[in-house]
Amino acid sequence: MVEAEGRSLCVGHCEDGTWGAIDNVCTHDGGVLGEGELEDCLVECPRHGARFDLVTGEVRALPAVFPVNAYPVRVIDGRVEVDLGVPTKELEIG
Ligand code: FES
Repeated sequence: MVEAEGRSLCVGHCEDGTWGAIDNVCTHDGGVLGEGELEDCLVECPRHGARFDLVTGEVRALPAVFPVNAYPVRVIDGRVEVDLGVPTKELEIG
C-alpha cells in the first residue's frame, strides 16, 4: 500500500515483472486491496475474494462487478513512478 497525493494505492508487480498500481479500495464493499494476496497479477480482496487485475483494474472474479482505477507505472533506474493524472478506468469510459 502506498499513500500519494491524497490517494491510497495498491502497488506491486506481476510474476513477469510488470508493475501496476490500482486504487486500494474494493468496489464491492470497501475492502482494502493492499491487504489482499497478489497472485499472477491478480489482487484478491481480503473481504469477500473479488479479484482485480493489478495493471488494468478490471474485475477478474466476483463478487465485485465494477473495476477499480488503474494508473500507469514506469520504473526508471530502480525507482517506481506512478502517474496519478490519468486513471485508466476513466480513459475507457470517456
Ligand atoms: S469488499 Fe471486496 S469483495 Fe467484498
